[in-house]
Amino acid sequence: MDCEIFGKRCATPIYLSSLAKGGLVSKSGEATFVRAAARSCTRFIVPSISSVPLSDVWAASSSTDLEFQFYLLGDEDASIKRLHEAVALGASAIIVTVDANAPRKGALFRATAGATGVFPSPRLSWDRLAELRATLPREMPIYLKGVQTAEDALAAVEVGMTGIIVSNHGGRVCGDSIAALHCLEDVASALRAAGAIGGSNRRIELYFDSGVRSGRDVLKALCLGATAVGIGRPYYWAAACHGEDGIVALLEMLTSELQHSMAQVGASTLDLLAPDCLCRLGSMPSRL
Ligand SMILES: Cc1cc2nc3c(=O)[nH]c(=O)nc-3n(C[C@H](O)[C@H](O)[C@H](O)COP(=O)(O)O)c2cc1C
Repeated sequence: MDCEIFGKRCATPIYLSSLAKGGLVSKSGEATFVRAAARSCTRFIVPSISSVPLSDVWAASSSTDLEFQFYLLGDEDASIKRLHEAVALGASAIIVTVDANAPRKGALFRATAGATGVFPSPRLSWDRLAELRATLPREMPIYLKGVQTAEDALAAVEVGMTGIIVSNHGGRVCGDSIAALHCLEDVASALRAAGAIGGSNRRIELYFDSGVRSGRDVLKALCLGATAVGIGRPYYWAAACHGEDGIVALLEMLTSELQHSMAQVGASTLDLLAPDCLCRLGSMPSRL
């Protein structure tokens, strides 16, 4: 199960995605998640909208090299200040969320943004991204979270992003958006065709989140081309029920389900997972 996530060695290809307001499910908020991720030897992306001060999250970690998720929020100055605070604390990569660009309305508002009380800025663009990047240390790895089309994935390669996370935010920002797993298939094929992933000259790292609920779901995303897979709500639920131990148990369970699924498709290592381990209903290979 050894692999690399955001450039760090991990013991499972499953990481904890950035979720705002960890205090909703755990008294010590993001500090709980950072500890659980460290115990499971995986990564936790520290969210911009954290419940506890960033310094407390860093203090709970034995190393300073945490990944920080950046939102350009309506209050742009405040969000950029927070970005630089994370960099000063030692953030080793910036994950820029690009799929939440408009205040939510109606039921989505009541179910989501109402809880955080902050709203993303609609002014994030490729140009704005370049400007923000120029304010960061030169070698800082940057990942775009929320890419859903092959076109944007190829543009991310062109501008030299370190990686992308195919995600639809768990379906929470745009009702009726396409299932993220289908986006992954399109994005990975386009990147493979462009020689950006899959060969010895890899130009971009590819990750996935949204809707992962079992080791089988992880397997599907890895087969389609993701290096690792993020989970969101499942670890909030685990934390709400059993705190840090709950998250560790959840990661163990998903990892062991993944191992079982790998055995069933005949893959003894992660690098053997490929699109041809999967088949679609209605297009079973003729040899079967
Ligand atoms: C309560 C909640 C808060 C979230 N907050 C953020 C956030 O602050 N930044 C972000 O990039 N994504 C956020 N997300 C999206 C997650 O990072 C992730 O993309 C999503 O939860 C994955 O889907 P899943 O919950 O089905 O696993 C949030 C999701 C939830 C459920």
